[in-house]
Amino acid sequence: METILVQGAMTSEIELIIKLLAENNKIDITEHSGYSFYETYLNGTKIIVSKTEMGVMNACISTMIAIEKYNPSIVINQGTAGAHLRELNVGDIIIGEEAVYINNTRSPAKKTGEGSNALEWRPGNSLSILVKATSELVEKALSIPYEGKVLCGRLGTGDVFSKEADRIDLLHSQLGEISEDMESVAVYNVCEKLNIPFIGIRVISNNELTGNSDIEKQFEIAQTKLQLFIFKFLTELTDNSK
Ligand code: 5AD
Repeated sequence: METILVQGAMTSEIELIIKLLAENNKIDITEHSGYSFYETYLNGTKIIVSKTEMGVMNACISTMIAIEKYNPSIVINQGTAGAHLRELNVGDIIIGEEAVYINNTRSPAKKTGEGSNALEWRPGNSLSILVKATSELVEKALSIPYEGKVLCGRLGTGDVFSKEADRIDLLHSQLGEISEDMESVAVYNVCEKLNIPFIGIRVISNNELTGNSDIEKQFEIAQTKLQLFIFKFLTELTDNSK
């Protein structure tokens, strides 16, 4: 039987999905090695909602655990992201056609007392992770109606929350990512290596380039919009009439 794994890093990024799923079926909560998993069904398909916790390492570990315990046939990683393009607004959704690792940096050599300048950092040679999502899932996600902008593009992922416009512009020019989060590429990498179809979907919650900063209210609005979208996507994926 099909099993769909839906991931979010924080409780606030999964609670609405869980609430909507709970309207039709009971939810069982399990913990594995400190990571929470919510098991239920939608239209007869098993759905596992997973709280990955934040960051690249947590995303890798919890994805590995989920695959080992639940053997999912589809993995959906979703959550908030910062914009790396000026034209992106809070609430815009990005379908992650691909994801790139943005922490792969190499600095020029500087001696004691010469300081540090992130605008001189360049992508390193190793660790150049760029992974494409499963194209059928990308197409399906693009067909879900949404009251707002949905675009397809490259997600950027690292253990960093960039709030410097010049650094963001440089990263974008070096790696081509249009947003920044802390989990997507980790999940992409694990799923690609283990041959499991996957997709990442992000909602813009802050745009540091336009001064639309990371205030809590904006995170809440963005998270709500995305979870409603993800629930529609799950409904479509589990629709037995198709
Ligand atoms: N940079 C990095 N991560 C961000 N997130 C939202 N906005 C950003 C940003 N500008 C997401 C991450 C992480 C949490 C901080 O929210 O994926 O889980």
